[in-house]
Order: sequence, then structure tokens, then C-alpha cells
Amino acid sequence: MNAEITTLYEQLGGEAAIRGLVDAFYDHMDHDPAYAGIRALHPPSTQGSRDKLHWFLCGWSGGPSYYIERFGHPRLRARHLPFPIGVSERDQWLKCMAQALVDSDIAEPLQRQLLGALSGTADWMRNRDG
Ligand code: HEM
Repeated sequence: MNAEITTLYEQLGGEAAIRGLVDAFYDHMDHDPAYAGIRALHPPSTQGSRDKLHWFLCGWSGGPSYYIERFGHPRLRARHLPFPIGVSERDQWLKCMAQALVDSDIAEPLQRQLLGALSGTADWMRNRDG
């Protein structure tokens, strides 16, 4: 044991592990009817969405700033304004992510920490009542 502070990025297992999480997230969204509502908001192929979420989460968790290098400031709320996001869409997103986390090798306390942090972001993305 050492006393060095590690980033969330390192704790999650770095770039490949984060890619695995993002792929599991979009695989569930692509195949589980429970997420049909938010799937319909996405383009026919989720390939570009997978890349963007992966790049974003790498930087957000303290790793390389891939997203910012490509697109500049994330302005996440503004970028989500074209999509109607209410309580149902927020909850679908978070449940889908919770399922992806269960598929992953990420330790349970870290899963809870990550989901807690993402809950705040997802709620902030709501742009309509209900
Ligand atoms: C609350 C429910 C959410 C819904 C329904 C939703 C939906 C979407 C949709 C439809 C897109 C466009 C996909 C594309 O252009 O390929 C998108 C983009 C994106 N989302 Fe979300 N999202 C949600 C929450 C989040 C959260 C919590 C995060 C981050 C932790 C996030 C990160 C991103 C990123 C980085 C992009 C790419 C933005 C861009 O460069 O255009 N989203 N989201």
C-alpha cells in the first residue's frame, strides 16, 4: 500500500476498461426494450455515440482529455438540448449504466461511487418536466 492519490480513471482500470463499460452500456441500450425510449433519441448506429462517451469519460474521470481535444469544452447540457430528456429518460440512462456496471469487473463500492457521480450529471441533463 502507498499513500498516493489515484484518479478515478486509474481505479476504473484505464482506457480499455472504460471502453468496455461504454460498449456494455450501448449494447444494453441497443438490445433491451427497457431503453427503447432513449435508444430512439440516438442515431441508427451507436458507433459515434460510443466513441464520444468513451472519450468524454476518460477525461471526466481524470485521464486523457480526448473529448476536449476533439470537440472543445463538453457543454454537455447544451449538447443535450436537442433531445427531450425528462425523468423517464434520465432513469433509463442510469439503469442502463447500472446494468453495464454489473457486467464489468469494477468493484462494487466503486460502481456505487461512479453511479452516484453520474446521477448528478444525468439529472442536470433534464430539459423538460416529467
Ligand atoms: C440523462 C439521460 C441522457 C440521455 C437521454 C442522453 C442522450 C444522448 C444523445 C441522444 C446523444 C447524441 C448521440 C450522438 O450524437 O451520437 C448524447 C450525446 C452525448 N452524451 Fe448523453 N444522454 C444522457 C446523459 C448523459 C450523461 C449523464 C453523460 C455523461 C456522463 C452523457 C454524455 C454524452 C456525451 C459526451 C455525448 C456526445 C456529445 C457530443 O459531442 O455531441 N450523456 N446523449
